Amino acid sequence: MSDHFLSDPYRAEPPDHDVPKASMVTVDLFKQAVGSWATGVTVVTLVDHSGRLLGFTANSFTSVSLDPPYVLVCLQRHSPSLRGFSIGQPFAVNILSAAQQELSGRFARPSEDKFAGVPYRLAEDGAPMLEGCHATLACVLEHWFHGGDHVMLMGRVEEAEVADNDPLLFHRSKYKNVHKD
Ligand SMILES: Cc1cc2nc3c(=O)[nH]c(=O)nc-3n(C[C@H](O)[C@H](O)[C@H](O)COP(=O)(O)O)c2cc1C
Repeated sequence: MSDHFLSDPYRAEPPDHDVPKASMVTVDLFKQAVGSWATGVTVVTLVDHSGRLLGFTANSFTSVSLDPPYVLVCLQRHSPSLRGFSIGQPFAVNILSAAQQELSGRFARPSEDKFAGVPYRLAEDGAPMLEGCHATLACVLEHWFHGGDHVMLMGRVEEAEVADNDPLLFHRSKYKNVHKD
């Protein structure tokens, strides 16, 4: 695989074996079914090669491996944020707290200034870690894979923070509150 794909995702075509085949499952039914998987909400952040801050909301986050510590996030192939990624790129997965629902909406809309007024600090490797999160993982991009109309970005975790607050939850297109026992 060449790194070039990540710097120019618009020209990249998935390999032939990724071409979708006819399915009994409609797009709507597929969305309803996978949206039934309750998740947290993350904002993935990075500083691109020109020093510009980028970020996008993602609930496709999952942990992959303990040793080495790998996590995965899927990003739409035509997302402008993909242009910021190349192998070795530092990025942070910011797991939002219940108080950060506004950030989820903000980072899910295309905008030149998603970070306006958003407090953050840079991790040692340069990944922007947002303040007030439920947890944050600072990563370096080690692998990427085609995934149909998405790209799977796999990062090695280099730094992590965990806070004693409630997480933001998402299920069937709605944010949910945590009810403590
Ligand atoms: C709760 C939630 C979860 C989302 N999860 C993902 C995701 O996992 N992958 C993805 O590509 N887009 C996801 N999106 C949509 C992106 O955040 C949105 O397309 C955003 O505009 C991408 O940023 P960009 O246009 O600056 O690249 C999600 C949106 C919301 C509200």
